[in-house]
Amino acid sequence: MMSSLRNMLLTTVLPLTLSLFTSIHANAAPNVDLDKLDTPSTEMGQQVGKDTLTYANYDEVSVSHIDLSLTVDFDKNQLLGDAILDLVWHKASKELVLDTRELTINSVSVQNKSGQWQNVPFSLSKADKVKGAALRIPLNHENNAKVKVSYHTSNNPSGIQWLTPQQTLGKQLPFMFSQSQAIHARSWIPLQDTPAVRQTYSATITTDKAITVVMSADRQVLSNTQTQFSMPQAIPAYLIAIAAGHLKFAPLNNISGIWAEPAMLDKASKEFSDTPKMIKIASKRYGDYRWGRYDLLILPPSFPFGGMENPRLSFITPTVIAGDKSLVSLIAHELAHSWSGNLVTNATWRDLWLNEGFTTYVENRIMEDLYSRDRALMEQTIGYSELLAELEELPPQDSVLHIALGERDPDDAFSGVPYVKGQLFLVFLEQKFGREHFDAFVKDYFNHFAFQSITTAQFREYLSFNLLNKYPNVVSEAEVDTWIEDQGLPSFLVPPNSHAFDDIDIQRQTWLEGNISAQALNTKTWTVHQWLRFISEMPRINLNQTKLAELDSTFHLTGTNNNEIAFAWYSLALDNRYYTVLPALKQYLNEIGRRRLIVPLYQKLASTEHYDWAKDVYLNARPGYHPQTQASLDLLFADNPMEHSHRH
Ligand code: BES
Ligand code: ZN
Repeated sequence: MMSSLRNMLLTTVLPLTLSLFTSIHANAAPNVDLDKLDTPSTEMGQQVGKDTLTYANYDEVSVSHIDLSLTVDFDKNQLLGDAILDLVWHKASKELVLDTRELTINSVSVQNKSGQWQNVPFSLSKADKVKGAALRIPLNHENNAKVKVSYHTSNNPSGIQWLTPQQTLGKQLPFMFSQSQAIHARSWIPLQDTPAVRQTYSATITTDKAITVVMSADRQVLSNTQTQFSMPQAIPAYLIAIAAGHLKFAPLNNISGIWAEPAMLDKASKEFSDTPKMIKIASKRYGDYRWGRYDLLILPPSFPFGGMENPRLSFITPTVIAGDKSLVSLIAHELAHSWSGNLVTNATWRDLWLNEGFTTYVENRIMEDLYSRDRALMEQTIGYSELLAELEELPPQDSVLHIALGERDPDDAFSGVPYVKGQLFLVFLEQKFGREHFDAFVKDYFNHFAFQSITTAQFREYLSFNLLNKYPNVVSEAEVDTWIEDQGLPSFLVPPNSHAFDDIDIQRQTWLEGNISAQALNTKTWTVHQWLRFISEMPRINLNQTKLAELDSTFHLTGTNNNEIAFAWYSLALDNRYYTVLPALKQYLNEIGRRRLIVPLYQKLASTEHYDWAKDVYLNARPGYHPQTQASLDLLFADNPMEHSHRH
């Protein structure tokens, strides 16, 4: 019933309403006459394709360019200055509504057609926990083309982390960086914080002369205190990014290089030296790299994610620098977003799987071409196992690719589903249609929707036309529907299965049964991925202390400096109450702030008698964590030990 209704919507009403709410491109008027439309179609009471997490009236007026003049003030830990927004009117309307979160607005002025600026009154709505506060500015669509907002940020904006010199590697200078995805750009810029709207941007940033500033844009030093940036390609708000600190640059080739604190520069350059090859591989298969440069910025270990695909400058956690390139799939991933995500963007956060599923798929294809099919398949298999484990904990409705987000915070609904289930779907299509046809399809898809923001329905329409109908009787609409709209995994899924793990599984079993000592295990040739498999498929309960101690003393797992292995080992240890790891774990939790590597460990601890110990460790480490990490852990340790034990 649901799905036939959906199919009907897809073929009839949807294409019209979609263009209403998506693809609002810089300088382009929407391609539909808005007044001629009937009541917009709804799905569960929500307008289909409308971003529910923005206040912006972007169907009436959209921002085509943002010009920032900001001071990065390390004395006050504040960004201060103004944002000038260029407007494109689509409809007669009396106001512009912008998103803000904890911004202090000093004044708003508008420019009329003859170029004069004039102060206007404005109002800030009561703040909503998820969306922040709407900034309403009365405007005249016949006369106003630009608006200027003078503002400063709060003392702990959700989208910025400020670090003291002590919290950096060099200990000499402070550091700051942004993390705008999903809806945190509004905490440092007043704007239309929806991925449906794309804009170009420019910026003049002023700060202390010892500090180097970088952004997700072309960079030009103006003086020893001023740097100018320009992003000439239209991007969604969540890709606007800034970082400032003691940064140095090392080139990898003519279009790619590394920004990092000086003490990190060499290590990072070695670890990520394959980046230029990755760019070549991806461009060859999916079309030209369209962003000019591709640089990496190595953040402090408190960076809350593995990486963030800010255009021209991916932000990267230092926790993947293992010394042996074993975790560089992260770079393949962030680079892949240069096609899936940055070029073709999810129009709403419901459609995140279009960004992350395609990116996880493309990432794995890069890994296969650059290293080997074996390595790529091991990574797929690990991702699949992790997804299975996660699906056991996740509310079933959140296992849908095209997730029903409503007005929930996208951060709260975040999971491996859009990544791995999305990837599995695309691997399914690849296997059904064959690589020749599927690769051509994906390349054409990126090209067709380049610099647009699209919904799942738009993707489906494109898929039906360019793959399903072009090669009939290979994959049915019903199968696609199952993948995109149903919970869990399809019954017809063929799971990835690396045979490089067969022997690992046998050795583990032999050891578990007591037929061989850890010392006698044949581990010499194991790769990091095989180690991860060995550890993560161990029994989660009742693995006895002697066995764990034997593993630990034979392989020195506690205190390992491969952070993925450390995470897998500490998870196993906590599940089996092997508390010998606690002192080393405490150090790990103080050194790393990447959410995926710490939040699950705190969750495990919080559901045991070590709740108080964990809370204590957390409160000590908290000042070094990012505001978004603090937010999830504050909830975990808010009150009752057991109550939040399964929250993310
Ligand atoms: N764009 C994401 C990070 C993100 C997603 C931030 C949604 C906020 C909301 C980034 O590309 C990413 O996926 N990072 C992963 C990398 C991993 C899957 C290789 C991470 O941080 O773990
Ligand atoms: Zn990603």
